[in-house]
Amino acid sequence: MPTTAQCTRPPEACEYMPDDFFRRHSAADIFSDGNPDLPLEIDLGCGDGTFLLEMAKHYPERNFLGVERLLGRVRGVCRGIEELGLKNAKVLRLESSYTLEWLLEKESVSRLHLLCPDPWPKARHHKRRLVQQHFLSCLHNVLSPTGEFLFKTDHPDYYEWVCEEMETFGKFTPLPWLGDGTDDAGPDAFFYPKTDFQKLWESQGKTIHQLRFKK
Ligand SMILES: C[S@@+](CC[C@H](N)C(=O)[O-])C[C@H]1O[C@@H](n2cnc3c(N)ncnc32)[C@H](O)[C@@H]1O
Repeated sequence: MPTTAQCTRPPEACEYMPDDFFRRHSAADIFSDGNPDLPLEIDLGCGDGTFLLEMAKHYPERNFLGVERLLGRVRGVCRGIEELGLKNAKVLRLESSYTLEWLLEKESVSRLHLLCPDPWPKARHHKRRLVQQHFLSCLHNVLSPTGEFLFKTDHPDYYEWVCEEMETFGKFTPLPWLGDGTDDAGPDAFFYPKTDFQKLWESQGKTIHQLRFKK
């Protein structure tokens, strides 16, 4: 009888494929061929990896793990990482909630980015929204004591939903959002490139709402 849960598909170059999905994985596991001591940032639902690749290029002193469930997108991001020769970026093909609840080590994440997630606009689908009390509890567990959660959406109702969920949860402190995607946005600004979906929504005249919290 197998004692671990393994994937039978061979990993892509630059993909992190856990040897066992039923244990927690540390930065030493994920970045064993790089520098596991760098701060770890997670891009949950990384899509085509536009943001992940830009961040990993810009911040060689940090590690970035993209989490994405669609294999085609995972493959595309892996190709991008390989072409750029990035040692500080990997992709994990896994469901976001499971990753937070069961796969990542407690207090191992310095920043978690949840950018333009599916808003599930219909009321009967709201229970599918990622940000719920249980998700926030798992997020709180994996963030380091000074860890941050950064969220963006084009959807005003999901924005209000997240504000309310965060207030109900009560263990995070709001922070100002200082990034705008450029290197010279002021002394307190941080580099924060636009995601593929943000560019798409903005090209359609939609407004992006953003939130930043610290543990
Ligand atoms: C709307 S797209 C946003 C992609 C990217 N963050 C951006 O802003 O361009 C949402 C992405 O999250 C992925 N996704 C949705 N639900 C997921 C889940 N539960 N676990 C892992 N990935 C998920 C989708 O496959 C998709 O690539």
